[in-house]
Amino acid sequence: MSRIAYVNGRYVRHRNAMVHVEDRGYQFADGVYEVVVVHRGALIDGEAHLDRLDRSLRELRIVRPMSRAALQLVMRELLRRNRVRDGLLYLQVTRGVARRDHKFPLVIEPALVMTARCNGLWSEARFQKGVSVISLDDIRWGRADIKSVSLIANVLAKQAAAEAGAYEAWLLDRDGAVTEGASSNAWLVGEQGQLVTRGIGSEILGGVTRATILRLAADMGVRVEERAFTIDEVRMASEAFLSSSSSAVLPVLKIDGGTIGDGRPGPVTRRLYDAYIGYVRSLSETSETRNTGERAG
Ligand code: PDD
Repeated sequence: MSRIAYVNGRYVRHRNAMVHVEDRGYQFADGVYEVVVVHRGALIDGEAHLDRLDRSLRELRIVRPMSRAALQLVMRELLRRNRVRDGLLYLQVTRGVARRDHKFPLVIEPALVMTARCNGLWSEARFQKGVSVISLDDIRWGRADIKSVSLIANVLAKQAAAEAGAYEAWLLDRDGAVTEGASSNAWLVGEQGQLVTRGIGSEILGGVTRATILRLAADMGVRVEERAFTIDEVRMASEAFLSSSSSAVLPVLKIDGGTIGDGRPGPVTRRLYDAYIGYVRSLSETSETRNTGERAG
C-alpha cells in the first residue's frame, strides 16, 4: 500500500506530493501547522488543535483554507486512505503561491497540505527511560505563541541537543528563565509537590497537551503555578518533565548532564502520565463507540 498525502484538493502518492516553488511557505516560511495524535483511529484533542490553527491563521492574516467540517472530513479521509490507527497527522497551511515579494497579496488562495503516518506513540518503556535535555538561549522570534513553520531556531536547538546526546533543548529567555522546549512544553515539580510551568504568553506555544495536563492536574487536586522558572530551579527540582502531542508526558531526568531528583521518573510525573494516557484512551473509546453505533444505526 502506498502512502497518500493531501495536497491542495487532491489525494496523491506521498512520493509525488509536491508544492509550487513560489509557495510562500517554501519562500518565506509564511505558514502555520499542527501535529495531531491519532490513537485507535481517534484524533486526540482534534478540536483544540483546530482552534489553535484558527488562531495562528488569524494572527498572521492567512485565509482559512476551508470550513472546520471540511477540514475534519479531509483529516478522516487521509487517515482512512493511509490506514493509520495509531500515529500522527500533520497539517500545514501556507499563505499560498505568489510571485516572490516580501509583502503579501491581500487576495490569495491559501495552500493546504496534510500527511499522516503510523507511529509508535508513548510506551511504558519510553516513560521509564525518560530523557535528558540541554539548556540553550532562546533565539526565536517574539511570537512563539503562533505555530509557525518558521522553525529554524527550533531546528538548530534540537540538532544541538541531539549532538550533545540529549533529546530536547530547554530554551532560556534573557533573564535565564526557561520558556519551553524546542518542540515541547517544560514542567517541573516544586518543593511542595506543586507543578510549575511557564504561563501562557508570546514566549511559548500554548500546547494542547499542556492545557489537558492543567485540567487533569486540577481534577487531581495538584497545585499548579503558571510562572517563569530558572534553570537553577530545574536543577533543584524533585521532578521535571516535558509535554507534547507526540511525547505525551515524558520524564526529564537530566539537564546539562546533571541529574534531576533521584534520576528516575517521580511520583507526580507518574500520576499525570497515567491520567493523561487514561484520558487519551477514554477519548478513543468514546469515538469507537460512536463509530460502531453509527455503523450499526
Ligand atoms: N510540537 N512547544 C513547541 C515549540 C512545540 O513545537 C510543541 C509541539 C509544543 C507542544 O504542543 P502540543 O502539546 O500542542 O503538541 C510546545 C509539535 C508536536 C511538533 O512540532 O512536531
